[in-house]
Amino acid sequence: MAKITTSKLLKMKQNGEKISTITAYDASFAKLFDQAGIHAILIGDSLGMVLQGQDDTLPVSIDDMAYHTRCVKAGVENTLIISDMSFMTYATKEQTYENAAKLMQAGASIVKMEGGSWLVDTIKGLVERGIPVCGHLGLTPQSVNVFGGFKVQGREQSQADAMVEEAKALEAAGIQLLVLECIPEGLGKAISEAVSIPTIGIGAGRETDGQILVMHDALGISCSYMPKFSRNFLKDTGDIKKAIELYIEEVSNGNFPGEDHIFS
Ligand code: KIV
Ligand code: NA
Repeated sequence: MAKITTSKLLKMKQNGEKISTITAYDASFAKLFDQAGIHAILIGDSLGMVLQGQDDTLPVSIDDMAYHTRCVKAGVENTLIISDMSFMTYATKEQTYENAAKLMQAGASIVKMEGGSWLVDTIKGLVERGIPVCGHLGLTPQSVNVFGGFKVQGREQSQADAMVEEAKALEAAGIQLLVLECIPEGLGKAISEAVSIPTIGIGAGRETDGQILVMHDALGISCSYMPKFSRNFLKDTGDIKKAIELYIEEVSNGNFPGEDHIFS
């Protein structure tokens, strides 16, 4: 298999092929997922919860992100590596450039940031400087304290319309991928149709261009609970590599997510 780039993911969207992505935080899992044929690996700041046992992602530092990005990079041959900019590491443009550079030098191919049109100038600046960006809209966990909990976003029509506009603004600013988290299926579809870049959903329904899961959820080892939108693929297979191969297959043939995994 050849190295996966954002151009390849764009082609997949254009051809109607579903993109499968998952989080990983170390070399061993990353290698296994890469060998299973996953299209992209995200070093998510979810590591604050699943590795560090914190209540949310806010305590995660950019050095934590860089460390785990280096670990993943060491295990990966072909998969695209996406790395999260953690809480308040992209509050100003200067901070953003410095912190994004740390992730790129640690092995990321693209950095992810949570937020809408307030990020437009930052995204333009990063792309001009050679750093590709993945957006993230919907339930953006770094804003959990603004939302008042981990809640589905975009249920109101006005909120949904605003999110479609934010997605278009991010695309115009230069993002190459867009993660959509915990939104109604209809909104996931509307955004995926409104932008030409690939959308990667988690709890965003069946109509996004790809899916992402936190590896601990996909393997049934999350320390807290199993989110509604996830599925334990290890239970069906009894083998980690086979579990990820099944996940990729189920995403590809449209069996995952299913009816039970969506918000309507
Ligand atoms: O941190 C993370 O794992 C994420 C995914 C849930 C999209 O941002
Ligand atoms: Na994240």
